[in-house]
This record gives sequence, C-alpha cells and structure tokens, in this order.
Amino acid sequence: MTGPLLAWSDAEGAARAGALFTAAFGAPPDGVWASPGRVNLIGEHVDYNGGLCLPMALPHRTFAAVRRRDDDVVRLVSSLAPDEAWAGTLGGIGPGLVGGWVGYAGGPAWALAQAGHALGGFDAAIDSCVPLGSGLSSSAAVECAVALALDELFVLGLAGSDEGRAALAAACVRAENEVAGAPTGGMDQAASLRATAGHALLLDTVDHSVAQVPFDLTTAGLALLVIDTRAEHALVDGQYAARRAACHAAAARLGVATLREVTDLDAALAALPDPVEQMRVRHVVTEIARVEQFVALVGEGRVREVGPLMDASHESLRVDYEVSCDELDVAVAAARAAGALGARMTGGGFGGSAIALVEAGRADAVAAEVAQAFAERGWRPPGILLASPSPGGARVASP
Ligand code: GLA
Repeated sequence: MTGPLLAWSDAEGAARAGALFTAAFGAPPDGVWASPGRVNLIGEHVDYNGGLCLPMALPHRTFAAVRRRDDDVVRLVSSLAPDEAWAGTLGGIGPGLVGGWVGYAGGPAWALAQAGHALGGFDAAIDSCVPLGSGLSSSAAVECAVALALDELFVLGLAGSDEGRAALAAACVRAENEVAGAPTGGMDQAASLRATAGHALLLDTVDHSVAQVPFDLTTAGLALLVIDTRAEHALVDGQYAARRAACHAAAARLGVATLREVTDLDAALAALPDPVEQMRVRHVVTEIARVEQFVALVGEGRVREVGPLMDASHESLRVDYEVSCDELDVAVAAARAAGALGARMTGGGFGGSAIALVEAGRADAVAAEVAQAFAERGWRPPGILLASPSPGGARVASP
C-alpha cells in the first residue's frame, strides 16, 4: 500500500505556486496565500438547515500566488486546469459569465465587490495539495486562498479578525453559490477561513457564530484517517440541490424558518405527508443532536467515546438522507471491521471521502484493510490522508 498523501509545507506550496505564477506572467507575485481543505467530524447536510456542524481544517491547502494590478484586468492560471487559463476583466466575472474552476478562483472578486469593497485587477496562479473532487472542499480552499490574497492586496482589512473572516467566508459562499453555481451551505468556507490549529470549529449556521473546540487526538492516542474513495463526487449535480429543496419544503410545511427549530421530531414526522421529506427531516434533526452530544463528550475529555455517534451519523446519511454510495459504505465497514472506534462519510457524499477514528498505532493497519476491501471489489485503491486539526488560511510567503 502507498503511504498517506502528505500536505505541502508553506515553503513547498509557495515555491510551486510562485513558480507557476512567474512562468505564466513573467514576474514574481506580490505574495502567496494558502487556505486549507476540511473534513467534517459530524453535522452533515445540516449547514443549509440552520444546524450545527463540526468541521476541522486539514493540513492540506491550496496556494494562490497573486499580484495586484493597476487596471481591471484579471488573469488566472491553475496547475489543476493547465489548459484552462483565463483572462478577462473584473466585470467579466459574475453569475452566468464564467464557468468551471474560474468561478471558484475569480468568483470571490465579484462577491467582494458586491459587498461594497473596492477591488482592481489581479493576476493569480493556483496550485494545491487538497485532493480534487474528494469531498475535502478543494473548491472552498481555492476561493478562500484567493479571497485572503484580495483582502490583503486591496487592503480590505478583513482577515485580521474572526468577524472579518466571517465576511470573507460569506463572500466565498456567494461566489460558490452564484458564480460557480453550486448551492452549498457555507460550512466549508467557514472551516477554511475560521478554523484554528488544535481545534475543531463548532459552527452555528443560524447566525454563523463559531466556537473553537479543543480537539487533541494525539494526547488521546488516536488518529483520524481520511479515506478518499476516489468515487466520483460532484456537487454541481442535482442531488445536492434536491436534498436542500426537500428540507426547505419540509420546513415550510412545518411552519419553521429552518429545521433547526424542530424540537419535537415525532410531531414533525407526523405532520409531514411525504415519506421522503420525513426521512430527510429525521436525518437533519437527529444529526444536529449528535453534534451536540459529540461536542459534549469531547468537552468532557471523552473523545474515545464519540465513535458510536460517527457510526450513527453514517447510517442516518445512508438510510434517511440517501447520500452515501457503495464505496463509502465499504470504506466505513472495512474501517470498523479493522478496529476503528467510529467511521462515517464526510462532506456532501455521493462519493468523496470517509473518516475513521482509529488508535494511532493502528492507522496503517486500518488503511491497509480498507485498501484490501477495495482491491477485492476491483476498485481503484483509495487515497489515504492523516488529518490533524490545522489552522485556517493565511499568507505564507512575501515576494
Ligand atoms: C458540501 C457542502 C457543504 C455541506 C456538506 C454536507 O461539503 O459544500 O456546505 O452542505 O456538503 O454537510
């Protein structure tokens, strides 16, 4: 089995993005900014329901080398889409105007301008060690790295405080929803910009307030394994939007602003005629409760006891929310059979990644068991990452 996919250091990421920039634009950037991907520990598909979620930033980041321009020209290159360099003007970026990766890389400029910030043109070169299409928020990492660069280069003054970072995150969500066209909920951008090292981020999506939850796996002798199933995962397709629409329809029928307000699950289920809406609501309401229980256990130093909550989350996502797939189910089952304390899919689902909480000394063995289960089915080997709670995005290099 190959080893885990390692994160790039500041120096390595800055050198890669900087070299790409210089090759594309003929001069060095003003700086390099990096922002991480994330895994969600628990609280899945609740961020567009006013729920609580508990992501943490990965050590794996996207690096954006950026230079401010004096005109309104924008030029974007990415090692992730080498044949799709883009050049235009600020006014050429917006809903319906750009597609693909340019929506993620350029969209934050549009959204920050919409929020009233004065921006000019810029050149940007993107490189990343966040696995793409793996449910680890590679797209949010691109948005957030670019947003941090624009914040500093155009002196917006947002990245220095959590409140400002919340505003940057909101702009990135608008970019993703309106420019890239993915109707996602905001957890990923909050994790990428507002997470701190050694903590999971408890995000309340009613008011976007956060709490930093100390999450020290090392002292507990544990490790968090991320298993990238390499099964296709696309959020711009209709399944995610359909889940969101069903939740909003159910909330409207129940007369609540969001499903967070449902306090009596049985009464809510009895009031919903549609069995599919019943299933979706049962997932959302029970999942929010699991986040509260998870945070309470961690707060009491009982991180070893969160496994059953992770297992229950996966079952709820598989059965009631119907966003798992064979590869995720096999990864989770194999990890548990190999001794994981708990395992679940993480992120949007329909492919992407699973996480498993394991004894630190057993990480390799659990990963090997999962790889074996994939090999037996003739599937591509899964990618393995080790997740430690890492800081949110920041500048990593000066000229
Ligand atoms: C994706 C979205 C998030 C969130 C998760 C599911 O990652 O980008 O906003 O909805 O799915 O929890």
